[in-house]
Amino acid sequence: MGFRSEAKFYQGAGVTIDIAMTSFEGLILGIETSCDDTACAVVDTAGKVLSSVVSSQLDEHRPYGGVVPEIASREHLRNWPAVLAEALRRADLDLETVDAVAATRAPGLIGSLLVGLSLGKALARGLEKPFYGVHHLEGHLYSPFLKPTGQVADVAPERFVALVVSGGHTALYRVANGDITTLAETRDDAMGEVFDKVGKRLGLLYPQGPRVDEIAEGWAESGQRFSIARCRDGSLDFSFSGLKTQTLRALDRVLARVSDSAVSGPSELPADELVRTDGVRAVLAGFREAAVGQILNRLDRLFRQETFETLAVSGGAAANRLLRRSLPDWAAERAVDLRLVALTFSGDNAAMIAHAAGKRLLAGDRGDFSTVEAASRLPLGSP
Ligand code: KG4
Ligand code: ZN
Repeated sequence: MGFRSEAKFYQGAGVTIDIAMTSFEGLILGIETSCDDTACAVVDTAGKVLSSVVSSQLDEHRPYGGVVPEIASREHLRNWPAVLAEALRRADLDLETVDAVAATRAPGLIGSLLVGLSLGKALARGLEKPFYGVHHLEGHLYSPFLKPTGQVADVAPERFVALVVSGGHTALYRVANGDITTLAETRDDAMGEVFDKVGKRLGLLYPQGPRVDEIAEGWAESGQRFSIARCRDGSLDFSFSGLKTQTLRALDRVLARVSDSAVSGPSELPADELVRTDGVRAVLAGFREAAVGQILNRLDRLFRQETFETLAVSGGAAANRLLRRSLPDWAAERAVDLRLVALTFSGDNAAMIAHAAGKRLLAGDRGDFSTVEAASRLPLGSP
């Protein structure tokens, strides 16, 4: 840790931090194991990512069509030593040099969370450094301000609106001076989850979201039309289950037609053949348009209620190509400063966890060694 002044300082658990200074060079080791990715990263308190390593368990979960919780915990236990060693190697650091440790505490699969949280606490205890238990969504929320490895993060404005679209969440938040208020969330499925379920019906392998996006991208003609869900009570909440049902029904109709004309039934047709049929591609294109249309609809309505200057968009489904193409136009028309998460940090990663902890550390938070527990569900902003 480097100090350049003796101005106001704060003494926490084994660490002395000058809050007033911008030249503080504390290093945070981040650990993220909330679902099926084992991730470690080293980020400094200025938000510069020194290394970010994500080890995917896709091959282990693929045969089951989705994430199997027991397999995920076991794989985290197996993978973390190599992931941690690689994160330190890429950052060119010894473990002893880190100044604080952070791990995701919630929400997620409880067994998976426990692996990372216990590891983080044990490392911090052994190193006699502070420990931070971070809410996964807080990590996503600030991730659009991270820059590619080696560059200092942009400073997040005091007030901004955050859209998080992932496999577990679809929500809008207002962030004001560090306080986070939920403006809207999904009443049923999350956006990424629906992409996965639609792809699963076609026999695609997990995670189906990126593949469905790719197939829709390849369809140049107009897609099948689906309506955009609205909540009757006028709330801004999202809802994707109606779109999912409409899409699955439309796919079933196409699949029935395909099976009439094929020698074998649709279930026997390999997925890569099915997704080449025009009917399937038109349905997937229309589905994607309606899913992204719903996101834009909620943003529109929110903007009419309260204008905002900055929109930060994050989460695994923020990799969606149509969404990434549509948002810059939407924002430009309203003079909104759009912060679209870099593709490296859209999916789950530990850099975002370390960065969120770094913000707390700089704000004088001493960490939460003994108080923090893992939780499969936890509203953002809970103690
Ligand atoms: O943030 P993330 O890595 O994990 C969660 O916290 O959920 O998000 C993963 C989700 C999966 O559902 C995946 O299918 C979806 O993000 N996803 C996409 C795309 N890339 C990933 N969904 C739609 N279009 C994509 N290009
Ligand atoms: Zn996530």
